[in-house]
Amino acid sequence: MRRGKAIIFVVVLVFLVNFTIGSGDVEPDVQERNSAVKLIRPNKLPSPNSKIVGGMDTDIARYPYQLSVRLDGQHVCGASIISANYALSAAHCFVREILEGVKEVTVVSGSTYLDNGGTSSKIRSIISHPNYSNRTNEFDIAVLRMADPFVFNERVAAIALPQSGAQPSAGTDAVVTGWGLLQSGAQNVPNTLQLGRVKVADFRRCRRSYFFRVRTKLTGRMICAGNEITDSCQGDSGGPLAANNVQIGIVSFGAGCATPGLPGVYTNLGDPSIRSWISENTNSL
Ligand code: ARG
Repeated sequence: MRRGKAIIFVVVLVFLVNFTIGSGDVEPDVQERNSAVKLIRPNKLPSPNSKIVGGMDTDIARYPYQLSVRLDGQHVCGASIISANYALSAAHCFVREILEGVKEVTVVSGSTYLDNGGTSSKIRSIISHPNYSNRTNEFDIAVLRMADPFVFNERVAAIALPQSGAQPSAGTDAVVTGWGLLQSGAQNVPNTLQLGRVKVADFRRCRRSYFFRVRTKLTGRMICAGNEITDSCQGDSGGPLAANNVQIGIVSFGAGCATPGLPGVYTNLGDPSIRSWISENTNSL
């Protein structure tokens, strides 16, 4: 079966991140995106670092807002239902390089498994944040407007958004869900929806670590969560980070997955500029 370009991208990113971790110099995956294609070395697979992402199987009925984003039928990212007509995902899932040659973008709702069940829905338009930058990964957010409204049931439902300015404090219990890799460098995404219990990390500390260890600047449009045991990973991007049944983040980037001292980075939905942009692009959600 012929693999989509997007999947090759994601797989190559995983290679890169693992190589750089191996050499003791961790590079954040987002910044390698553009150079990724040149560096593929199919015969030199990175040794898996055995750091599983620490999640467990779950059921869509417990996280009915979870979506799988499909490019020509292939899972590439997560997303979340925020109303009958809109879903939320990450802008980096829909950049030109990833959409190149893709005929159809759909989301699948209501299924625990990637390979069967659920309902596939067409997207009318993808609205990426105009200030999204794939260099800094600022404003990594996209609103998906559905061609037809979701039909809600016990496996398909919307998640609430935070109030503008609401900032989760360090230590807040949160849940990240998705079909992303179970470990950095894994070759295949799992078929069963995974849930990871993570805590919101201290932001200043996270920002310091990213700055000094991987020369990456975090901003107020980002929050950190997870640790060396549990973290999101490639394929989870665009998916929801939720606390108390409110979506507080979108899976955005990291330095490898579950790398000690470098938590996952999420788009901060409580940031006023992010929150108001969602309202403006969804008929005031
Ligand atoms: N950028 C990744 C994706 O496209 C998500 C990585 C999240 N990484 C992390 N360590 N939390 O799927």
